[in-house]
Amino acid sequence: MPQTPNLEREMPALDQSSGSPPPSGPCIMVIFGGTGDLTARKLFPALYNLAKSKLLSPDFAVVGVGRNDYTHEQYRQIMSEKLQTFATGAMDPELSKWLISRVSYVGGEFHDPQLYTRVAQTLAVVDKTYNTQGNYFFYLATSPSFFGNIAEQLGAAGLVCEKDGQWRRVVFEKPFGNDLVSARALNRQVLKVLHENQVFRIDHYLGKETVQNILVFRFSNGIFEPIWNRRYIDHIQITVAETVGVEKRGGYFDMAGTLRDMVPNHLFQLVSLTTMEPPISFSSGSVHDEQSKILHAIQPFDAEDVLHYAVRGQYGPGVCKGERVPAYRAEEGVPPDSKTETFIALRLMIDNWRWAGVPFYLRTGKRLPRRYTEVAVQFKRAPLVLFRDTPVSNLDANQLVIHIAPDEGLSLRFGAKVPGAQMKVGPVEMNFNYSDYFGTSANTGYEVLLYDGIMGDQTLYQRADMVEAGWAVVDPVLDVWKALPARNFPNYASGSWGPEEANGLIARDGRSWRKIAE
Ligand SMILES: NC(=O)c1ccc[n+]([C@@H]2O[C@H](COP(=O)([O-])OP(=O)(O)OC[C@H]3O[C@@H](n4cnc5c(N)ncnc54)[C@H](OP(=O)(O)O)[C@@H]3O)[C@@H](O)[C@H]2O)c1
Repeated sequence: MPQTPNLEREMPALDQSSGSPPPSGPCIMVIFGGTGDLTARKLFPALYNLAKSKLLSPDFAVVGVGRNDYTHEQYRQIMSEKLQTFATGAMDPELSKWLISRVSYVGGEFHDPQLYTRVAQTLAVVDKTYNTQGNYFFYLATSPSFFGNIAEQLGAAGLVCEKDGQWRRVVFEKPFGNDLVSARALNRQVLKVLHENQVFRIDHYLGKETVQNILVFRFSNGIFEPIWNRRYIDHIQITVAETVGVEKRGGYFDMAGTLRDMVPNHLFQLVSLTTMEPPISFSSGSVHDEQSKILHAIQPFDAEDVLHYAVRGQYGPGVCKGERVPAYRAEEGVPPDSKTETFIALRLMIDNWRWAGVPFYLRTGKRLPRRYTEVAVQFKRAPLVLFRDTPVSNLDANQLVIHIAPDEGLSLRFGAKVPGAQMKVGPVEMNFNYSDYFGTSANTGYEVLLYDGIMGDQTLYQRADMVEAGWAVVDPVLDVWKALPARNFPNYASGSWGPEEANGLIARDGRSWRKIAE
């Protein structure tokens, strides 16, 4: 029998601000990869923040699963130290003791069926001790290569079977598959033992707040919907710029590349939220239905399209944020002749009545001049320039920019008369920042994901068909790029906005990328 967890503490009373959501129900969070980096950096600090906001049930416990042979006490000691290191703000010692007191540990190899027997035994004990009512929240904070096998083993051990009102859910970290074939195979394997409503595929790039901000902006304001279509919109540009290189994840990243890492999940989430039809409700199922339709409506690339409408780049050395930085090929874990892309630009079309003929230009990359994410909607120009016989010959188009990171907000650019005797028009901007109105709070980005998962809300997680639709769009690009490895890498300097070909991609259509302040 496993050791019985021996520390029991009352959850300290904390003020709960009015209007906050209810605490999650009783459950045990079982973290496969409990000794890993993600658990230490993000998951434990997020659990602490949830407890601090009174969003965790007093009947909550954690079981970490890893390869090492720790006792419960040793694991608690390690996690207590990690929590101090990675906390996002000042810690309440009583609260952190409460959280750590509810932690247990099981050691073993993921592929070993005996491990799951020991996990089941420990869960039974923990369940009784902390009154968690048989609800298990499995979190696979492991390499994706283990996902299918862990799910199967959980199924074989009877750990994901829901009965007598108990729920069982499994969170899968990203990436879910690395192309269409592997994503389909993993979905099949996982859905043999789990129902779709038990499967939580992480895509934590956009926080829930941002997703809801976009939905509220689009669907609670009557003035935008009538012009949100091909009659009034000329094109849409999406930029997701990072200043970082590959940091310590060179080995992982070199197998993936920017197209896999960013496009089917993160960029397509922005595309679908910006372009989807109004859902019939705010429920995750209804929102996913509409997002999925958009992903299925993205025009498939053929090989010829890939050559014209997809650009790849890899950073060379340069200066980023005032610091000299090495080339991608000189990063730790990256082969010196790597052909992996660290930048992509794409032109997409969406084949439906709302968007037919409106190009979407997407770009994302590492070692760009500024960490910045936006969706810029460029409207068509005014149909007629009234100001003949004046110095005004060219009017700028209106632009509505949804700022996503680092600051969330909206800005609308329009033309205004410059004061004076002469007829001159200049661009002006109306700006709105969420933080000016609503303030901000320190978090890891995982709090809402965990809370929603425990509550069974799948809004922020990807459904099987969405994952597959995303891969279906990028697969032809992956295939062509694999068949024709890049010959001009590195082709952009760190600290620049990417390769010259990215400018060519949009310039061919008579347009240009928005200038983003550095
Ligand atoms: N780290 C991040 O900030 C981050 C961010 C976004 C997404 N992710 C995703 O999160 C997942 C985990 O990443 P990570 O950085 O935390 O990885 P990591 O630090 O390498 O941790 C992997 C965990 O899995 C355990 N493990 C590995 N092989 C095992 C085996 N055969 N049997 C039992 N346990 C085994 C490790 O145990 P040992 O301690 O014994 O090795 C460790 O607990 C990945 O899917 C990654 O893509 C991570």
